[in-house]
Amino acid sequence: MSEGSPLWAGRLAGGLDPRILAFSQSLGVDRRLLAHDVRASQAHVRMLGRQGIIDSADAEAIADALEQVTLDEGAADEDVHSLIERQLVARLGETGRRVHAGRSRNDQVAAAFRLWCRDAARDLTGAVAGLQETLVARARADGDLILPGYTHLQRAQPVPLGHHLAAHCVALDRDVVRLRAAHAAADVSPLGAGALAGSSLPIDPDGVARELGFATRFANSIDAVADRDFALDLSYACTVGAVHLSRIAEELVLWTSSEFGFAELDDRVAQGSSMMPQKKNPQVAEHVRGRAAVAIGRLTSLLAVLKGLPLAYNSDLQEDKELVFAQVDGFAGSLGALCLVFEGMRFDGARMAAAADDGMTVATDVAEVLVRDGLPFREAHEQVAARIAAGERFAAPTAAEAIAARNAPGMPGAFRDQLDVIERRIADARAFASS
Ligand code: ARG
Repeated sequence: MSEGSPLWAGRLAGGLDPRILAFSQSLGVDRRLLAHDVRASQAHVRMLGRQGIIDSADAEAIADALEQVTLDEGAADEDVHSLIERQLVARLGETGRRVHAGRSRNDQVAAAFRLWCRDAARDLTGAVAGLQETLVARARADGDLILPGYTHLQRAQPVPLGHHLAAHCVALDRDVVRLRAAHAAADVSPLGAGALAGSSLPIDPDGVARELGFATRFANSIDAVADRDFALDLSYACTVGAVHLSRIAEELVLWTSSEFGFAELDDRVAQGSSMMPQKKNPQVAEHVRGRAAVAIGRLTSLLAVLKGLPLAYNSDLQEDKELVFAQVDGFAGSLGALCLVFEGMRFDGARMAAAADDGMTVATDVAEVLVRDGLPFREAHEQVAARIAAGERFAAPTAAEAIAARNAPGMPGAFRDQLDVIERRIADARAFASS
């Protein structure tokens, strides 16, 4: 291989048109796989050495040289895999040219990408736990403040703020479950599948999988290079998470409006207007909401990339990384930003209480008193509805009494027990994230 020519230059005459190289190049995106590709390549060459496919001194020399590979600026390589091999050859000459025995870029890219997705799923688990911790801290501090719970965005029944914040934590816990499932999906080594049909050399896919800490290795070499379900799983986990954050964000926009006035943002996380001097805008929340929209687009893009592909590898798959990297970055960014927002937020307990205790949010409780006295619920409902329509407002029970009467597990009055459970789940997620 001459300096700067593609890995496959032996097959095609003349140089690649530089405009086609620029069009096809993925180095600008897959450079983020460098560390993962280096690890996988080291495991691969050590296996080649162990199996006697290359000299074990050569294997060690290549493994050491892999450590020295850097992203040289302005590199004209097609992709990160080509960059790595070019630098090995530049450093080791003939020996460097031995690295690619028994593998293809098809299993190479799948391996590096799987290692990357595994790390990303693990790190995101920690980031989700971080937001949960912030929400739990707010729920412990301000959880007894009472606000109206809403259905149809109409005041429905009073709930403690702690119950409401715990609801978001419970949804985030499902995101952790999805991220851990995405981690497990990525945890399969494709190395040894080669281009699609393995190799006639005496390679050891199990040994390579073990060395890289993969839970297992591929079951079918064609599927190993064609499969991007692990990328979809991670993208989906991020998308659902982003949708959860978007729902939180929408509430922040409402709560911090003058109309609601339930909360005020800390100045450090609010933005102003270039023209209207009075404005304090919840732009972080709007960005979080907007980024969820883009996340949905990326998930559908990846699904669309995959849907028409015949087995096995096709270059369409090169689009996968940009979509997944952006998905992970976007979700991580929104999680971090919302932590900052919640840490500095001030709740206006009086405004929330006034809305919660408007004499109507306890109408269901008033009807249930009548049910306890023996009335069919439908009749009680009609009676209370008629009194409300006639202008009556109820002084009893108070919102606090209505909440206290609902203290079974999962109910508003039992939110502190929920926080205990959530904290145990968070500890679990943290342990996984640092494993
Ligand atoms: N850059 C490619 C990708 O991202 C790597 C695999 C290329 N394989 C090939 N036969 N062209 O998918």
